[in-house]
Amino acid sequence: MGRIEALLAAMTLAEKIGQLNMPASHQAVTGPGARRELEEGVRSGQVGNVLNLWGAGEVQALQRLAVEHSRLRIPLLVGLDVVHGHRTIFPVPLAEAGLFDPDIWQQTARAAAAEAAADGVSLTFAPMVDVARDPRWGRMVESPGEDPWVASAFAAAKTRGFQGTDLRATSSIAATVKHLSGYGAVTAGREYASVELSERTLHEVHLPPFAAAVAAGVAAVMPAFIDVAGVPMTANAALLQGWLRGRHAFEGVVISDYNAIAELRIHGVAADTAAAAALALSAGVDIDMASEAYVEGLPAALERGLVSAAQLDASVSRVLRLKERLGLFDDPYRGAGTGGPDFPIRELARQTARRAIVLLTHRGGVLPLSTELQHIAMIGPLAAAAKEMLGPWAAAGRPEETVSILEGLKAALPNCRIETSDPDARGIPAALESCRAAQLVILCLGEEAAMSGEAASRADLGLPGKQRELAEAVLDLGKPVIALLTSGRPLIVPWLFERAAAVLATWFLGSEAGHAIADVLTGKVSPTGKLTVTWPRHLGQVPIFYGQRPGGRPPRSGERLSSSYLDIPVTPQFHFAHGLSYSSFVLSDLRCTPTAVKMAETIEVSVSVRNASGRAGEATVFLFVRDPLASISRALLELKGVSRSALEPGESKRIQWQLPIAAFAFIGVDLDRALEPGRFELYAGESADPAGLLRCDIEVMG
Ligand code: BGC
Repeated sequence: MGRIEALLAAMTLAEKIGQLNMPASHQAVTGPGARRELEEGVRSGQVGNVLNLWGAGEVQALQRLAVEHSRLRIPLLVGLDVVHGHRTIFPVPLAEAGLFDPDIWQQTARAAAAEAAADGVSLTFAPMVDVARDPRWGRMVESPGEDPWVASAFAAAKTRGFQGTDLRATSSIAATVKHLSGYGAVTAGREYASVELSERTLHEVHLPPFAAAVAAGVAAVMPAFIDVAGVPMTANAALLQGWLRGRHAFEGVVISDYNAIAELRIHGVAADTAAAAALALSAGVDIDMASEAYVEGLPAALERGLVSAAQLDASVSRVLRLKERLGLFDDPYRGAGTGGPDFPIRELARQTARRAIVLLTHRGGVLPLSTELQHIAMIGPLAAAAKEMLGPWAAAGRPEETVSILEGLKAALPNCRIETSDPDARGIPAALESCRAAQLVILCLGEEAAMSGEAASRADLGLPGKQRELAEAVLDLGKPVIALLTSGRPLIVPWLFERAAAVLATWFLGSEAGHAIADVLTGKVSPTGKLTVTWPRHLGQVPIFYGQRPGGRPPRSGERLSSSYLDIPVTPQFHFAHGLSYSSFVLSDLRCTPTAVKMAETIEVSVSVRNASGRAGEATVFLFVRDPLASISRALLELKGVSRSALEPGESKRIQWQLPIAAFAFIGVDLDRALEPGRFELYAGESADPAGLLRCDIEVMG
């Protein structure tokens, strides 16, 4: 008999349920409800896993109780949200996704895993890959953005990074892909609200990143809190058993979201805790995060015959198998207390952060900053706000180890006078006074970290408080103004885009934020970040995304009876993948070969890109496809490839993609994947802006 079978045979019912129980420690609070006393639970075998615990000493102490003082000596699984770094904080996912660089996505996850493992963590609740198209939703910040292709690549890279090639390695932690699925489509962007979503959109847009994580070997999956069309994801057997375990052969662990099993009663689909526990277990949820519904409800559910002993055993086995895969039975303390990553992690954080910055607008050549500058005013509530740079999921990140924007620029320009004045403390007139003698003003505007993330939906996406008043007063001085937008979502500030000499999206860039921003402002590097969400010009446009269908009356300028608004333009402020640099690039000669292909074949798509500027830089070119005639109306553009090339001034390069025709499949009439012959249009460009796209067509033969 193997270890798991032997343990199962020896376990009492309470001990089995204990292995499915994951209460929260007191160290971080990420959900509602009372916290349980952990020590006694661990000793008695009723607590087999914990979340929100870290620190080698703390974890070792609790683990010691499990492996030395509980009857069966089963080690604990210790979970934490290591969403974008552990102690060293990387840019928030919305920003990091904008690098379009799976190698970096993987490296930062690898580094975070090593740090977290050294702090006793064995499992992370990441990657979060909810496709997000509505910036009112605060959790857009945690997501890789609006596009399923990007989210899928992100999901796979992050999974590989957290887990490494060997889950037993002490620098690896188990990944949990979340939140399955459709959470990004909460009604009106309102957190936790019910979701209405077609099956087609669920399969075409929201599920692919989860399939990608499963294909990459993700250890765990977390269903979302929400319900889609009345079915709470925590009780969605068709999705968790049918789609996930059946169709995608997922063999890992399903972990509920925080308190989600108990909340099935509030959803109104379970009469009592036993019914809630039975619904979740039957749907395939193995671990109950923080609701104690399994502890309280499963014994009665078994007695009433709502679930079977075999179902319970199957879940317990899956949890034990994950502990075995992590090597916890042989080395319950794993990497706890070891040195963490063995490479310069702060340097990785700085490089990632500077590459995530998006230059949104730039006029008059104000950037990079002139080396002649002697006096800059840096104004705004985010200038010296190191803590805010960490963003809403800062895990074990420390404000005192974080570089503020002001500190970063001062370090980069030691001979320049950088004056600052906190308008919150000293008022707008004092801030204006500081600007008067300066040659240039840098406005540090945007959101505090707590304005994005969970339970941070906003109905107004302008600048909070008096920031607009401050910014307009500064702009009225007539000096060159560079605005830095700290935020976890696009902010709707068209007036700022119109008036400032340059605006940069600096998101929440993490521990090295200030240095990274200074690297870009001073021209040490040229900006390379691209938007992974379409940036609206008006709140009335959301949800907004580039992959829309044409409809029967697509937008036509000047035509009343077309899909548009009476009072605002239909175009966004910035298209998906927008992001300027200090160089400029020219694309030409897009070619597809062959131009007539069979369905099982692959085409080569190539395009030339030239650096038409006097500065070295990196060009990012996007490949889109459009299927103009199919049994289901298809999106106007779908992303299928990205390529980044470093180019010296005047240098040209030919970019190539190998694209299998199978990549043109879509969710057909019967909701299965379909590939239909016909003409396809391929487009290449620097963003999804239709005005900048080159086109070539191919014919796919049946
Ligand atoms: C969030 C999850 C998170 C969990 C544990 C929940 O509130 O929705 O994303 O993993 O808390 O912190």
